[in-house]
Amino acid sequence: MNVTIVGTGYVGLVTGCCLAEAGHRVVCVDNDESKVAGLQKGVVPIFEPGLEELVSSNVAAGRLSFTTDLADGVREAKAIFLALPTPPQADGSADLTAVLAVAKQLGKHLPDDYCVVINKSTVPVGTAEAVRKAIAANAKSEFDVVSNPEFLREGLAVKDFREPERVVVGVTSKRAEAVMRELYASFINASRPLYVTDPATAELSKYAANTFLVTKISFMNEMARLSELMGADVDVLRQVIGADSRIGHKFLYPGIGSGGSCFPKDVRALKHMSDEHGYDFKLITAAMNVNEKQPLVLVDKINEHFESDLKVKSFAIWGLAFKPNTDDIRDAPALVIIDALLKAGAKVTAYDPEAGGHVRQIYADNKAVKIVDEKYQALKAADALLIATEWPEFAEADLKKVAGALKQPVIFDGRNIFQPKDVQKAGFAYYSIGRRPVGAA
Ligand SMILES: NC(=O)c1ccc[n+]([C@@H]2O[C@H](COP(=O)([O-])OP(=O)(O)OC[C@H]3O[C@@H](n4cnc5c(N)ncnc54)[C@H](O)[C@@H]3O)[C@@H](O)[C@H]2O)c1
Repeated sequence: MNVTIVGTGYVGLVTGCCLAEAGHRVVCVDNDESKVAGLQKGVVPIFEPGLEELVSSNVAAGRLSFTTDLADGVREAKAIFLALPTPPQADGSADLTAVLAVAKQLGKHLPDDYCVVINKSTVPVGTAEAVRKAIAANAKSEFDVVSNPEFLREGLAVKDFREPERVVVGVTSKRAEAVMRELYASFINASRPLYVTDPATAELSKYAANTFLVTKISFMNEMARLSELMGADVDVLRQVIGADSRIGHKFLYPGIGSGGSCFPKDVRALKHMSDEHGYDFKLITAAMNVNEKQPLVLVDKINEHFESDLKVKSFAIWGLAFKPNTDDIRDAPALVIIDALLKAGAKVTAYDPEAGGHVRQIYADNKAVKIVDEKYQALKAADALLIATEWPEFAEADLKKVAGALKQPVIFDGRNIFQPKDVQKAGFAYYSIGRRPVGAA
């Protein structure tokens, strides 16, 4: 099928590559000229395992191309995906400016034959209809709008797209459903179902999924706090409750909160939608509040250890991305921690395998923040090491080398990557989340 993807970011580029790999002919459109120029030369602007290979092989096979020209990009399309940003506005609602602006332009450029416009962005209930109206204002040919929210996880995006746990399509016609079935034919089977529903249910399902996940994490973060107060070990607790198949082991890891481009914004957007309908969704407010404060739990531990005297202290931070295997730093807990430390007068030297460049740009004018390119380099003369992202290379670190480089052997582990007994044996004072501190005076 001839497919156009408008918006070539984390979702759009992965969608485009995976559909091209499945045999569709895909044109990716983006209004960022430098991004498109780079992609045309094979430069992939984001870090996502397996993506670079898919871009180069599908470009070489003639199934994938990139352009900034929307009219040209959609000329032959039967399916047009919108994978555009929907960032949060000050009141928490999703900003639909990009989605509606592209929809308005699309009306003028729709192909002569019937096509479907597929909303892959995470958008509030009612957006499919708003997009339909915006296109219809200028359209001369027939089209349908489909809601097809994306559930991929950054870091596993290619695998998630190609082996989805489910695909959801919200349609208003059998004709649109047939196009969606054809598009996804090679990705779905008996254990990877395609759910066909109305656009409102499809749109809401994405917010429901993300809000549930944040609630699960926030629940565990509260259990972690309670475990600390009661002298229990949240790590064991997590395994015990996770063994119950009704609960499951996934997403039960306490830490410094979940960030990223989706969770915080989607939770706030669902709260906003809920308020608009006059419904006080109490769980969302609680989950959101716990998550927002969670990065500061680590800062509280640091203050306690150093008796709230962080001036002239220097901290090494391992991990800046909001989670491992991505370079995405949107709403990353590490940034909240850095800002709190800077406010308290401390200095920070940080390392991340993929996200360092982005953070360097944010603090370019701040001499108190240094980003280095190697993990042990970050430790030089630091008063303590903080773990903010659970990249595998951190868990495999040589603890003797870490202790030797730090001014004092102290670790504040926001992701519980080490076993307390191991770090204690290596001579550290070690603070983690929901487990008893070890080695502290
Ligand atoms: N990142 C994720 O893990 C993820 C997962 C599921 C759903 N989503 C949702 O998918 C949507 C896209 O997210 P993302 O992370 O891919 O965003 P992104 O910022 O990485 O990509 C968006 C792309 O759209 C382009 N763009 C913006 N305005 C444009 C316009 N007018 N015309 C053409 N291109 C334009 C940008 O240049 C950018 O390349 C959001 O609604 C997000 O909530 C994201």
